[in-house]
Amino acid sequence: MSLVLDPAAQDLLFREARTANTFTDEPVSEEQVQAIYDLVKYGPTAFNQTPLRITLVRSAEARERLVQHMAEGNQAKTAAAPLVAILSADNEFHEELPTLFPAFPQAKDLFFSERAARENAAGLNAALQAAYFIVGVRAAGLAAGPMTGFDFEGVRKEFLDDDHTPLMVVNIGKPGADAWYPRSPRLEYDQVITTV
Ligand SMILES: Cc1cc2nc3c(=O)[nH]c(=O)nc-3n(C[C@H](O)[C@H](O)[C@H](O)COP(=O)(O)O)c2cc1C
Repeated sequence: MSLVLDPAAQDLLFREARTANTFTDEPVSEEQVQAIYDLVKYGPTAFNQTPLRITLVRSAEARERLVQHMAEGNQAKTAAAPLVAILSADNEFHEELPTLFPAFPQAKDLFFSERAARENAAGLNAALQAAYFIVGVRAAGLAAGPMTGFDFEGVRKEFLDDDHTPLMVVNIGKPGADAWYPRSPRLEYDQVITTV
């Protein structure tokens, strides 16, 4: 009664959405990724800095290079998923800031002239956007398999550069046979929420 979102959408995005470990062969199209991004880009970030960058790993050759940097338990599913995305934080996001936050263009020099401050902000805000991305994948009727079990430095050197920090690798597609582990319990309201 308290939620205004259609119950079917609640299920699609949260209650029935699962982290997939196997996928069907059905491809994930460029149009689907575009539609996902066109939702995800509206998720809020500090100063609208939107530091998330997404590398779609589509070629077989690039997939093979990525799999070698994945933890052993993540290799088979990363090799087999219809689409794999490397999510990273752009530590030089401040270059776009005067455009992205025209209400306060001084923010670029006032708050983000130091690399350490940018890395700090980019890490938090790109992680927020990664969460929006997972929900966006679900909104497209697809399942996401986010992973942090990989060699971060290896992936950075192989696919990114010094200005980008990898956050996670996400397998994307329609869930296949035995796609998920048993649902793990969640913390209940009283374990998480305090009111002061
Ligand atoms: C940031 C992040 C990193 C994760 N890393 C891995 C991983 O390296 N390997 C893996 O098999 N699952 C990984 N997972 C999957 C989680 O274990 C899974 O999402 C969680 O247990 C909830 O599962 P459910 O959506 O099926 O309820 C990761 C999930 C997230 C969000």
